[in-house]
Amino acid sequence: MGHRGAAADAPENTLASLRAAAAQGASWVEFDVMLSGDGVPVLFHDETLARTTGRKARMAETPLAELRGLDAGAWFAPDFQGEAIPTLEDALALLLELGVSPNLEIKPSKDTDEATARAALAVLSSSWPLERPALVSSFSRACLAVAQEEAPRFPRGLITHRPPKDWPEAAAELGCRTVHINGRRLTAKLAKRVKDTGYGLAAFTVNDAERARELIAAGVDCIITDAPGVMAAALA
Ligand code: G3P
Ligand code: MG
Repeated sequence: MGHRGAAADAPENTLASLRAAAAQGASWVEFDVMLSGDGVPVLFHDETLARTTGRKARMAETPLAELRGLDAGAWFAPDFQGEAIPTLEDALALLLELGVSPNLEIKPSKDTDEATARAALAVLSSSWPLERPALVSSFSRACLAVAQEEAPRFPRGLITHRPPKDWPEAAAELGCRTVHINGRRLTAKLAKRVKDTGYGLAAFTVNDAERARELIAAGVDCIITDAPGVMAAALA
């Protein structure tokens, strides 16, 4: 599964990055979904726009019309100058065309968990066909609870860097199908526990093939990586 598209080879969370993941053979792609200041779900990772666009402003305070004027590609490499921050709607339309399945990581700005999940799920529900796989994941339990309530047909994944003690209760209560754990923190013992409990297990963000092999041997089902092509070739 590509991470933020194929973040090693294209600017993260852009349409170019989704295309790169597809070109490298990824069958799934993870990306981050936030709300613009006027409530439109877009692909973006940080609370502030500075790192990838140079604009010193908060995502949650910037309306879509202004986001559309920003360059989210030039910071990565000159070839990507002019890449835009995509709306979720545009990203899903492209993935449908490419035949790649989305893992929507709902990534709320502070105190916008429910609104972000509601808006993202509304777009996903109206634009993603029933017969095509898709996954909704989040670090935020509040987001997953909204997903469970509003769009139960999409499987849910609970993301954690280091699972808290109550992860089994949380994952069960939220009706999750998968658990996504930071690959650096994931021990063989924990992997076994997650698998024995019946969940699909994903590890992020793993760019080292040797580490990926260890994780797969420990039971990991899905490697979320910035370089899906290189990883697939190394694991083949
Ligand atoms: O979805 C897994 C992974 O993307 C979570 O971390 O910070 O890269 O969104 P982050
Ligand atoms: Mg993410």
